[in-house]
Amino acid sequence: MSDIPDRLLLGSGPSPVPRRVLDALAQPTIGHLDPAFVEVMEECAALLRSTFGTQNPVTFPVSATGSGGMQTMVDNLIEPGDRVVVGVAGLFGVRMADALRRRGADVVTVEGEWGRALPVERLVDAAAAGARALFVVHGETSTGACQPLEGLAGAAELLLVDCVTSLGGHSLNIDAVGADAAFAGTQKCLNAPPGLAPFTVRDGIVKDSPSWYFDLAAVVGYWSAEGGRSYHHTAPVNLVYALREALRIVHEEGLEARWARHARAHAALRDALRVLGLERLAPEGEQLNPLLAVRVPDGVDEAAVRTALLLEDGIEIAGALGPLAGKVLRVGVMGEGARPEPQERLVTALARRLGGDERAALDALAAGWSA
Ligand SMILES: Cc1ncc(COP(=O)(O)O)c(C=O)c1O
Repeated sequence: MSDIPDRLLLGSGPSPVPRRVLDALAQPTIGHLDPAFVEVMEECAALLRSTFGTQNPVTFPVSATGSGGMQTMVDNLIEPGDRVVVGVAGLFGVRMADALRRRGADVVTVEGEWGRALPVERLVDAAAAGARALFVVHGETSTGACQPLEGLAGAAELLLVDCVTSLGGHSLNIDAVGADAAFAGTQKCLNAPPGLAPFTVRDGIVKDSPSWYFDLAAVVGYWSAEGGRSYHHTAPVNLVYALREALRIVHEEGLEARWARHARAHAALRDALRVLGLERLAPEGEQLNPLLAVRVPDGVDEAAVRTALLLEDGIEIAGALGPLAGKVLRVGVMGEGARPEPQERLVTALARRLGGDERAALDALAAGWSA
């Protein structure tokens, strides 16, 4: 008997985990050096390479949440005194700037309005003055804006990307955009449980790490055959089973088809929520398909709406953070959440909570899906 309530996860992550992935997670735990597990690791790494769109041999899931991917990037690619330009138009840009300052980097922020993408020229100009690295958040989960990556490579020695929320849900090809390293999370568009950080890095750019746990050279010694699969830490084997299964599902659908489905799901839900008086924060063309952030109409207590949705309707959506707190609701459009049925449940529940025209909102949703 489970004491965990049944929830429809349409917040900022975690996202709905399919039964196939939960079943994979529940397979017997075996040793992290067992040859049978090594096969799982290899398949997982290969699937991750194609999901990132990269040939980088060093592509694997860091045994940590998305933030551990960020720490791996900071510790192994940046040295004290390095000038790093950071695009900041939301919470995750703020966090990266903080992590880089703690590393002793000379951080130059390019700040923008929360809910907008940063103009590529501003980032390139800021990096032109001899920056070692340029860091951007591809999918800013705190605002629902997507940062274009084209045109950024070459502005600094390294282009570093957070694609925690975009991987598997928004068009992305790490090698094509010339990114040198990227990290992601498993609990967004991949629909696996939280706890692993898919990571990729181009060969030959790794420096000495100040941290023991996130030392790439040592971790790769475990993840790669060339490294001799030497013990570094006890990998969370069941999470790796789950991620492998989640990635298989991604590739059964096909990346392009999956991105297109997320785009369609986003547009359909945007239209439905507009009928209920909830307007999208990001302007057209700057939206992050996996995350729809909408403005809360005056007089609506968004926290009360979220609480009622969660406790009475069993649906999780997210509030906002920082300057957007109380003013914006965030709805995940991630993997299995980016389908008509969960969206219908949400639209129905929201229409009732907000006193909106349920029929018209559902019609808009259906029209968006059949467009
Ligand atoms: C864009 C972005 N970066 C980093 C993170 C941090 O990931 P985690 O919470 O898994 O540590 C998140 C989590 O929501 C995120 O959305």
